[in-house]
Amino acid sequence: MSNTALEFKSVTFQYNNHSSPIVKELNFHINQGEFVCIIGPSGSGKSTLFKLITGLEQPNTGEIHLQKKFIKNRLGEVGYMPQQDLLLPWRTIIENAALPLEIKGIKKREAFYQVTNLLDEFGLKGIEDSFPGDLSGGMRQRVSFLRTILSGSQILLLDEPFSALDAITKLSLQEWLLKLWQKRKNTILFITHDVNEALFLADRIFIFKETPATDLQEVSVPLGRPRVLKDLNQTHMIELKEKLLEELRAQVKL
Ligand SMILES: Nc1ncnc2c1ncn2[C@@H]1O[C@H](COP(=O)(O)OP(=O)(O)O)[C@@H](O)[C@H]1O
Ligand SMILES: [Mg+2]
Repeated sequence: MSNTALEFKSVTFQYNNHSSPIVKELNFHINQGEFVCIIGPSGSGKSTLFKLITGLEQPNTGEIHLQKKFIKNRLGEVGYMPQQDLLLPWRTIIENAALPLEIKGIKKREAFYQVTNLLDEFGLKGIEDSFPGDLSGGMRQRVSFLRTILSGSQILLLDEPFSALDAITKLSLQEWLLKLWQKRKNTILFITHDVNEALFLADRIFIFKETPATDLQEVSVPLGRPRVLKDLNQTHMIELKEKLLEELRAQVKL
């Protein structure tokens, strides 16, 4: 049996100023090393789910378990890349990437050393002394991702990391992310509204059907690894894509 990395046990959460919960008695689990994509219309509660996992918000009832343990204070236990890139414009790339290490109390010299060792893998060699404003969108996302990895967490939460990028940059970053994930064996939860992206990346796709979410519909992606983009052109994949798009379209209220 595989190891559970994350589990929601009957989790209910409601924002104070809302009349109904975002998630209600929600149960699901994620296996160690799994790549799960979460799709759903905007406003359905996907980012809220991440805030619950990180501990930025706490459930009203129910429990969130990491590695089969109930951990109330989860801040720092998971690597979180929020929807908007939070690079500090006045810090250089290396200073931005080293931030989580500095927060942990690691000396600047050692922190810089750790970042420097990873620059090549993240395609950032030679630009470590630039500022975020000088970088392309794809580069900025790689810096954010490097920073998330340096948090040292096994579970990574990526909230629409590629949604603002042009199509070509997005495709190459998807391929890059898959390679990195296969090498590092992290557990990844990845929010996207792009069905193709979810099918290319995920082992399983969770669909936010309605609010409050009591059940996440789940789809296993019938593709092996490693994958290439043209795998998505197989007949059964095109049919699955149509089915997912239908599901999502049915939920969008105009
Ligand atoms: N801090 C907050 N306080 C109150 N309501 C919020 C807060 N953050 C998000 N919401 C509301 O919760 C709902 C779900 O939001 P969110 O999780 O951001 O959805 P998604 O990421 O799927 O677009 C939306 O109606 C949103 O307006
Ligand atoms: Mg969101």
